[in-house]
Amino acid sequence: METIKVLELFAGLGGFHIAVNNQRDANIQVIKSFEINVNAVKTYQENFGYDVISNRNILSLSTEELIRQNVNAIFMSPPCQPFTRLGKKLDVNDDRCNAFHHVLKLLPRTPNIQYLLIENVYGFESSKMRENMLEILQSSGFYTIEFLLSPTDFGVPNSRLRYYLLARKNKKFTFCKHDPPSILKEFTYCTCGGISLHDQSSICSNCQREVNTKISSLVQQNTGNMKQSFLVNTSKLHSYLDEKTDIEQYAVPDKILLRYGNILDLRTFQDSSSCCFTKGKHFVN
Ligand SMILES: C[S@@+](CC[C@H](N)C(=O)[O-])C[C@H]1O[C@@H](n2cnc3c(N)ncnc32)[C@H](O)[C@@H]1O
Repeated sequence: METIKVLELFAGLGGFHIAVNNQRDANIQVIKSFEINVNAVKTYQENFGYDVISNRNILSLSTEELIRQNVNAIFMSPPCQPFTRLGKKLDVNDDRCNAFHHVLKLLPRTPNIQYLLIENVYGFESSKMRENMLEILQSSGFYTIEFLLSPTDFGVPNSRLRYYLLARKNKKFTFCKHDPPSILKEFTYCTCGGISLHDQSSICSNCQREVNTKISSLVQQNTGNMKQSFLVNTSKLHSYLDEKTDIEQYAVPDKILLRYGNILDLRTFQDSSSCCFTKGKHFVN
């Protein structure tokens, strides 16, 4: 089986690196990663060692260097601020898109890159940047498939709808019967490798067997650490909390509770849901 050698760009704390390490099969490996933020790099180094990550501006990456890296895949989460629903939505006119554009422009001249995995916020799917990206990928010989998925689709108790793109060079994804709709929110797949894109049409055109397997089982099959219970019920928040932590230090002050208690979105250990927020001043106190 071909080994997938990953270059992780906009690496942050290494979310993709954890996902790669969680793969049951050892045929995928993060070879190198780039990140501009010094504190993120320090955290990444604590998690994955000092050799893999470079504190670099991705704008300085050249075609020659990308070829020299000896990788065949790029996994990346480019900055999402240009596309967030609560932001200014400057899209391609936001300078924070420059490094993303830069990487895409290298692709037609880097034949070694055969696979891409790109993640971004909900909102990216309707951006001009996505249109530009698809144009470049298609003209560079990539076939693509796009998803809008949340951890809750996999039984993980956190709502975080995100855009994902998979791209593969010169090789179509195997679909049953139809070409895919533009962005998938759910699909069923067949163990033969075929995918059925329609909840009702459950016969795989590849092997003619019935397929009714949800995306969560595809993850279960390929990773070693997803608990079976996740696939049926959403797990509880306590499975993700560190028991040894002194939670008193994070307690919300009484003053805030008295003032905002009735509008705060409070969760307990036993809850099966949570949501994300960023530092928007109305949301964090
Ligand atoms: C959406 S976050 C990535 C999150 C990451 N997937 C993780 O698991 O933490 C985008 C990251 O891109 C980094 N970044 C932004 N512009 C960059 C550039 N020009 N070169 C390198 N890194 C950059 C930011 O510092 C930030 O950590």
